[in-house]
Amino acid sequence: MSEKLFIFDTTLRDGEQVPGCQLNTVEKIEVARALEELGVDIIEAGFPISSPGDFNSVREISKAVTHPTICALTRAVQKDIDVAADALSLAKHKRIHTGIGVSESHIYYKLKSNPEEIIERAVAAVKHAKKYVEDVEFYAEDAGRADNEYLARVVEAVIAAGATVVNIPDTTGYCLPLQYGKKIKYLMEHVSNIDKAIISTHCHNDLGMATANTLEGIINGARQAEVTINGIGERAGNTSLEEVVMALRCHKHLNVDTGINSKLITSTSRMVSSMMNMPVQANKAIVGRNAFAHSSGIHQDGVLKNRESYEIIDPVDVGLDESVIALTARSGRAALSHRLELLGYKLEHEELDKVYKKFLELADQKKDIRDDDLLYLVGATTGEKISKRIQLKYLQILTGTLIPTATVILKIGDSERTATSTGNGPVDAAVKAIKSLINESVMITEFLIQAMNKGSDDVGRVHVQLKCGSMLVHGFSANTDVVKAAVEAFVDALNLINATEKKETK
Ligand code: KIV
Ligand code: ZN
Repeated sequence: MSEKLFIFDTTLRDGEQVPGCQLNTVEKIEVARALEELGVDIIEAGFPISSPGDFNSVREISKAVTHPTICALTRAVQKDIDVAADALSLAKHKRIHTGIGVSESHIYYKLKSNPEEIIERAVAAVKHAKKYVEDVEFYAEDAGRADNEYLARVVEAVIAAGATVVNIPDTTGYCLPLQYGKKIKYLMEHVSNIDKAIISTHCHNDLGMATANTLEGIINGARQAEVTINGIGERAGNTSLEEVVMALRCHKHLNVDTGINSKLITSTSRMVSSMMNMPVQANKAIVGRNAFAHSSGIHQDGVLKNRESYEIIDPVDVGLDESVIALTARSGRAALSHRLELLGYKLEHEELDKVYKKFLELADQKKDIRDDDLLYLVGATTGEKISKRIQLKYLQILTGTLIPTATVILKIGDSERTATSTGNGPVDAAVKAIKSLINESVMITEFLIQAMNKGSDDVGRVHVQLKCGSMLVHGFSANTDVVKAAVEAFVDALNLINATEKKETK
């Protein structure tokens, strides 16, 4: 049985300190709920004394989330602790996170104090927090640059005062993995009451070492890791949750695991990225757009033969459907054929050759070939061969200030049928009219309209994904009339599932 590593997520506190990433309370609750589903153990919800907004967020998150412990940050100041306790009053499981600087630079310059007084203030803060909550975490700010012997004295004193968790932050992201690991080891070996508390890592990424340092901390005895989604945080950010979780899953011999539901990693990452307006770099480990994308022909061939040739994580485990074979001018037929199959096209040799030739021509002009480009290529190349059982013969839409109404005539096999329907918009009206003429129950699971270039006279590309039972198909069309393109794309997708005509009932 592996040992438990507690995941302390500080996306909503340290992550939210990034300029431009501020969320309102409603958004914070949404993120907190996603973190709860992801399975984090502790959510640091804010720094209540810092603003009424932070106070309110901690209070509302305390009400909205039940499983994880809700944590509030304070300085080693009584008033901060009183306000944090108030903000946490409705939480089912609550923790106060208090602390003070322990490096020479913090003690003498920032706090204008001395080492003995810092220990007294640390102990007083923990004792004060303990009056409100059982679960008190102490942070030894800038522990990364602090003297280990002094740090051990601080840690021993706060544990004696009642701290249940002691956080050893590398606040400035200064440590090398070996140094940080040795620091944790030193504490594990020299603090007499260390068994009474959990040691926590909190690493910043200024030298790109945050995840490595966190793992060294864990290897040397830390059993809580403080992390953020996508590694967001001040300056170069914090340790990223997804990297720690997946590194431990990949290296089972470390015998430490988290309770994180890794299948929700991608969706949580995307949610945080879009809410906080913080794009994830394409090559970011685990959650970057290219993290599972293979572009060289040799790699693509290897992955198609056996995923493990070039992948240490199954993308499905982090919530992606599968690895992306990025199609470029260096891709081979196997990669193209594989991608087309996923899009619902199984092409035979000659046909595949034709599409491949066109694909190479396009790939020479365009760096990144996307699914809709492929669908366009397949349409253009095999258009005559793929029999379109369903054809859109007529489309008329009334919209504007009227209730959007669409009339369609479809040719299904040999017969022509007409239907009229209203909807909440022109596309919805047309789709409803078409659905009334076919037998299958289909659901639009993706609908994308993109301008090809710029300007009101531009061509709009529409990509529709339809679900019919367990089958997923993609339809595509491009037209200067985006409504027409949308309806054509829908019909295009229907053809791939061979939808049949609905028989008239009397
Ligand atoms: O980096 C740091 O030291 C912190 C503390 C406030 C925990 O974020
Ligand atoms: Zn921090």
